[in-house]
Amino acid sequence: MDRRPGPSARLRLAVSYAGFALFAGVLLLGTVWVILLQALPEVAVMPGGMLVRSALERTLGTAAVAVLVLMTVFGLVGGWVLAGRMLAPLTRITDAARLAAHGSLSHRIRLDGGDDEFRRLADVFDSMLAQIESHVAAQQRFAANASHELRTPLAISRTLLDVAHSNPAHDRADLLDRLRTVNTRAIDLTEALLLLSRAGHRTFPRETVDLSLIAEEVAETLLPLAEQRRITLDVTGDPTRTAGSTALLLRMVTNLVQNAIVHNLPADGTVTIHTEPRGALTLLHVENTGPPLAPDLVPTLTEPFQRGTQRIRTAEYQVAGVGLGLAIVHSIIRAHDGTLTLTPQPTGGLGVTVLLPTTPHRHDLSRPPPRPQA
Ligand SMILES: Nc1ncnc2c1ncn2[C@@H]1O[C@H](COP(=O)(O)OP(=O)(O)O)[C@@H](O)[C@H]1O
Ligand SMILES: [Mg+2]
Repeated sequence: MDRRPGPSARLRLAVSYAGFALFAGVLLLGTVWVILLQALPEVAVMPGGMLVRSALERTLGTAAVAVLVLMTVFGLVGGWVLAGRMLAPLTRITDAARLAAHGSLSHRIRLDGGDDEFRRLADVFDSMLAQIESHVAAQQRFAANASHELRTPLAISRTLLDVAHSNPAHDRADLLDRLRTVNTRAIDLTEALLLLSRAGHRTFPRETVDLSLIAEEVAETLLPLAEQRRITLDVTGDPTRTAGSTALLLRMVTNLVQNAIVHNLPADGTVTIHTEPRGALTLLHVENTGPPLAPDLVPTLTEPFQRGTQRIRTAEYQVAGVGLGLAIVHSIIRAHDGTLTLTPQPTGGLGVTVLLPTTPHRHDLSRPPPRPQA
């Protein structure tokens, strides 16, 4: 922004100091003048000789002017030095802000010394920079991973086509089958990416949703998948409501239960879905048996494209998730002001706890009514 030039804060502070010093001086000398001189008679006989009042007034007046000039100069110089020292941290904060504005997010102010207003501002600024930096890094990682994941099905299709092209006796039905699988995968991935970006926006209409009904519905839909993998699916608990988007909450529970089935034991595993009200919160807990999970891996699972097993083999291509399931879950929960906790089970498998507010937060009520979603 272009601003008209003005006096610096340092100059204004110095002038204010000097002004105060001058004012105090005038007040002090004025008091002396009035009280002392007015009490004296025109001519007084003192032990040292005669004292004429008008002569005393002249002397005192000259001295007073000299003192006031001195006080003003003192106030200006002292104020200038003092203001410079006071404002020095501000210069460092401005420099850091300027660097950040030009894209250098790694710089920190790191103001030393005790706690005061400037240090607090600098600390808040530093932590804001740290947050922005990690956010930007996550975005870059995300873009790189997304491009990589999107390229994979395209590269596989290309290889399949090349092979078919160089071998005229190729089985066409088999080629079409494989191409279809790879294509479906690319569509799933793109849809998951779209959903992830949409879930992050908080612009969905909020309605009262009973999570226990959603849990029932998801269990019913995924029962065939569970049976196919010989997994017992249990739904327990009480009705409990939250305010949010039915479609997004349905997607959130579906992803959790699908994970609980897919990342379970090869056979005879169990999945339990539990809902209950917890004070002002609504609790959803999904728990499954499965292979043991490394505790240090668990907190990273909600990052996009983070899978328990990093490389997927081609044979698994059809059934493996795209690695966005938990990222979508996390994003939906955040948009609903809730929390997500992943706990590895001591006997293997995962416990997932979701807490959502029963009523929307205040800041949601104060926003303009959301636009209906397309
Ligand atoms: N219920 C679960 N039990 C065990 N592991 C799980 C469970 N849910 C997720 N995981 C692990 O977290 C990883 C990330 O999950 P997700 O984001 O849904 O990706 P995807 O399921 O597509 O691999 C999975 O690859 C799996 O290793
Ligand atoms: Mg998944």
